[in-house]
Amino acid sequence: MEEKPKKLVILYATQTGNAMDAAERLGREAERRGCPVTLCSMDEFNANSLPQEDTVIFVVSTTGQGDTPDSMKDFWRFLLQKNLTKHWLEGVHYAVFGLGDSGYQKYNFVAKKLDKRLSDLGAAAIVERGLGDDQHPSGYEGALDPWMSSLWRALHQVNPKFFPKGPDFVIPESKLIDQPKLQITYYETDMVDSQLYTATDLKSIQMQIERARSMLPGKFSHDKSKPDCFLKMVKNQPLTRAGCGRDVRHFEFEFVSSAIKYEVGDVLEVLPGQNPAAVAAFIQRCNLDPESLITVHPRVMESAESNAPNVPIKLKTFVELTMDIASASPRRYFFEVMSFFATAQHEKERLQYFTSPEGRDDLYQYNQKERRTVLEVLEDFPSVQMPFEWLVQLVPQLKTRAFSISSSLSAHPNEVHLTVNVVSWTTPFKRKRTGLCSMWLAKLDPQQSTGLYIPAWFHKGLLPPPPPSLPLILVGPGTGCAPFRGFVEERTIQDVSGRAAPILLFFGCRNEENDFLYKDFWLSHAPENGVLSEQRGGGFYVAFSRDQPQKVYVQHKMREHSERIWDLVLEGASIYVAGSSTKMPSDVMAAFEDIISQEAGVSKEAAGLLLRRLERDGRYHVEAWS
Ligand code: 2AM
Repeated sequence: MEEKPKKLVILYATQTGNAMDAAERLGREAERRGCPVTLCSMDEFNANSLPQEDTVIFVVSTTGQGDTPDSMKDFWRFLLQKNLTKHWLEGVHYAVFGLGDSGYQKYNFVAKKLDKRLSDLGAAAIVERGLGDDQHPSGYEGALDPWMSSLWRALHQVNPKFFPKGPDFVIPESKLIDQPKLQITYYETDMVDSQLYTATDLKSIQMQIERARSMLPGKFSHDKSKPDCFLKMVKNQPLTRAGCGRDVRHFEFEFVSSAIKYEVGDVLEVLPGQNPAAVAAFIQRCNLDPESLITVHPRVMESAESNAPNVPIKLKTFVELTMDIASASPRRYFFEVMSFFATAQHEKERLQYFTSPEGRDDLYQYNQKERRTVLEVLEDFPSVQMPFEWLVQLVPQLKTRAFSISSSLSAHPNEVHLTVNVVSWTTPFKRKRTGLCSMWLAKLDPQQSTGLYIPAWFHKGLLPPPPPSLPLILVGPGTGCAPFRGFVEERTIQDVSGRAAPILLFFGCRNEENDFLYKDFWLSHAPENGVLSEQRGGGFYVAFSRDQPQKVYVQHKMREHSERIWDLVLEGASIYVAGSSTKMPSDVMAAFEDIISQEAGVSKEAAGLLLRRLERDGRYHVEAWS
């Protein structure tokens, strides 16, 4: 009798979904080699039961300044408990794959510290940890592929029962195609109350969103299915000069449903609307009936019981609310599954070539470089008719987009403001591309969109609200100034008798004429009685990077005012850095190191140690986005 193969546990901690993608890919590859897999997000796993596991693969991403994803916070806290001994995980085998960005100082910090802690607790690593890098031309996959190969060999060595047919045996992908992970149930239209499916009022919109999103497999942090509230846009104002090559907007929204209490430095997530024409084109291309009523649920494997949720939704609404059909560069697996369903021979061959090792670069050119959307790819291969189950599984989920809030609720009761860079660029073949959410918002006309309710979620970011007694040093080039507009507004309100501590703000942009965001606002708070005034020990300084032959950045301005910076640090100031450049945070950190070393007359190492201490004491915060 054939022995039962051993089961592999894969735990992932994801913030944006990439670590989940990587974990799923690992799981799929293990299953193709005959090894059953349990895949789950770290917040759904009981850390207490870790010693009972035999072999666990961890896939974890590093966010912000070396922070763990939210879904890992409890797990990590548990592992750090002092009462766990160095024998606690004896007998457990593990492997760690990290996803990070070498543009950041604390590159893959979470994977590294997890690896060390597991080993300190007595677990045995089966392979050296793998580190995926966003800066690599093919992203984290560049490191994942070779790491996986060594993992399969190592697992087989640890215990041949993982792969009873040997580590080189692989079930062809085509054999797995008839087993999508999801199942769609269709309902008769007259079986259900049609009122449920016409979204005319807020309550019903909320219900539709909740219903659609709760059917989605997997779990993203903050991506709760039910929005915290709905917003109505009341202002859409360009902050940059038309035709200057950049388009940054100031948006103001009112709460239409429940008012939300947020603090300065918090983050607002918005679920973008999709282009109705693109949704219609996708539904037509895939031969789907937009009006059919469906539920989406995990496929029932061995059990006869149906686990279908009992409230269906219109297919068109489901697509609109959950499937990001304009998202760029579908995963390689999308092409693999397409190749199976292609009926025209030349299309099948091209897709097979794309997914072969020889075709990897060409796929990269076609898919990543050109940022083809899911719809464009499907249109390029018209003979492919993928079942809807597969489309739901493979088309990226429509995700909320996060923005740093740029207002203070005390200054604008019942409102929230955003400062958004409207993203657009040209591909190597000169095709125009735009960011889904920013362009959607930029095109909304507050006068015309009275009936448009924007689903929104609020949560804490990496910038805690500072108490009014704390002097602040803020560094925010470009849209990095967004949260600091809120800080300045809030402090101005708190400054009733001129007693609030000062703010020293460094802002950077390209040109004084083109993209000096919120110029009047900053300048109005810089005179004597303003919280940004030099007289009070603060200040407002701008670096125009392109107004002269050589680049001038915020760091240059900081160095010009090093004495003031050091005085404020000695007075107990907190430092906040925000912005959209991946290199900026480490460059700014280096500038602080120089300044401290110079002003305090200590070595660079000592200055670096002091900065680490400030970070540990919660006096140095960074929020960076790309
Ligand atoms: P640049 O585009 O002229 O290089 C907002 O994006 C501002 O930040 C721009 O003026 C941009 O300059 C500048 N910037 C780019 N990289 C930076 C870095 N590493 N440190 C500080 N500022 C930077």
